[in-house]
Amino acid sequence: MQSIKGQMNDFLTRYGINPDRLDMETMCHMFQEEMQRGLHGSESSLAMLPTYLEAAREVPRHEKVIVLDAGGTNFRVATVYFDDAGQAVIGNFKKYPMPGIGEEVRKDEFFRVMAQYLEGNLEASSKIGFCFSYPVDMQPDKDGRVIKFSKEIKAPEVEGELVGENLKKALHQSGATLDYRVVLLNDTAAALLAGQAAATEEVFDSYIGFILGTGTNLCYIEANTNIGKKTGLNPEGSQLINVESGGFGKIPQGEIDLAFDRTTGNPGVFTFEKMISGRYLGGLGRVLLQTAAAEKLFSERVAASLVELQDLSTVEINQFLTAPFSGGTRLGAIVASGQEQDRTVAYYILDRLVDRAAKLSAVSIASAVIQSGKGLAPERPVCILAEGSTFHHLKSLKEKTEYYLQDYLVREKGRYYTIKTMENAPLIGAAIAGLTN
Ligand code: BGC
Repeated sequence: MQSIKGQMNDFLTRYGINPDRLDMETMCHMFQEEMQRGLHGSESSLAMLPTYLEAAREVPRHEKVIVLDAGGTNFRVATVYFDDAGQAVIGNFKKYPMPGIGEEVRKDEFFRVMAQYLEGNLEASSKIGFCFSYPVDMQPDKDGRVIKFSKEIKAPEVEGELVGENLKKALHQSGATLDYRVVLLNDTAAALLAGQAAATEEVFDSYIGFILGTGTNLCYIEANTNIGKKTGLNPEGSQLINVESGGFGKIPQGEIDLAFDRTTGNPGVFTFEKMISGRYLGGLGRVLLQTAAAEKLFSERVAASLVELQDLSTVEINQFLTAPFSGGTRLGAIVASGQEQDRTVAYYILDRLVDRAAKLSAVSIASAVIQSGKGLAPERPVCILAEGSTFHHLKSLKEKTEYYLQDYLVREKGRYYTIKTMENAPLIGAAIAGLTN
């Protein structure tokens, strides 16, 4: 047994997947340096996008707002108001496919489809809170220009366009008559605001919105005086910064990362996201298993089946890690056709891939907490509103992330945090932004 483990560790180290070879201190240091460069407008793989959103203000009660949530897979539409107790009441909820997720779409089509998704809700309010989960250059009026699509969305004509303005145009073309005000915000900003609004009993020193689902990213609160690239900001104030952590480009990519990156729609960019998020972990896992097969870590029969795998999703990796002895999953059936050791090898290397994703998630979170300058007292921790299917559902990812955070951030750095979760955080955060801006 020991020798298989040795062989597997050797293999993982050679290909840059072994999390034990990544040093938290070094990685967090690099991450913070990139954060600071991004804040000052120097060349950086972290966009550090100012949002012009301040941490939550008083949220009006009983006023309806239309909320949209353009995520990596789905496009959600609903109406929201806050009741007397401050609880969000969500109505007319509908879920559609995100435009550009399969076939490439042109700009007109992209916004026309969105306008169509809104039918039936158009009269509910003239305020629209729009959670848009892609890198956006926000404008002081809270509209935003798409910088580049991530998560393999194919709508190149939309890049460089103002989302709110184009949506309003499409709504009016489809017959809408109200004069809408669209407030755009990233899903991590929405998560942060939702977390802040929900904190009534506990006292937090600051807030972070963290997402690890189809893609990954986080948002934290920064003092305006540290945002060197923007002039004219109130020096007394602070605002939410969308880090766009998925773009972080300083983690060394191993040969497997590079081989997988070449198969994506945007090679060379979002390399951090490609190591940790749900859109990519399945594909990366497939290349990992196939490389292990080529290196003869599996018996012949299993190796032959693995080499034939044309695709693999993160959900399928999760199914295997959750029930490794079930023959009812794709990977489970493959390893069941070989020897007992095949299952151990597949499980071990995929588990290490998840472990690396957890360590890297912890790097992004720890760096944001440290950069915020907050969380120094245990009774006043930083609240991290963490959302996303990969974080919450991929086997042991959350536990492993917390392990690294406890070990590094709390024990070594003396910074305290609490992880919270909330159903519908993007919708609730979008509603808060729509109502308070
Ligand atoms: C996007 C971010 C988003 C994150 C989580 C990334 O692909 O670039 O804007 O916050 O996914 O949804």
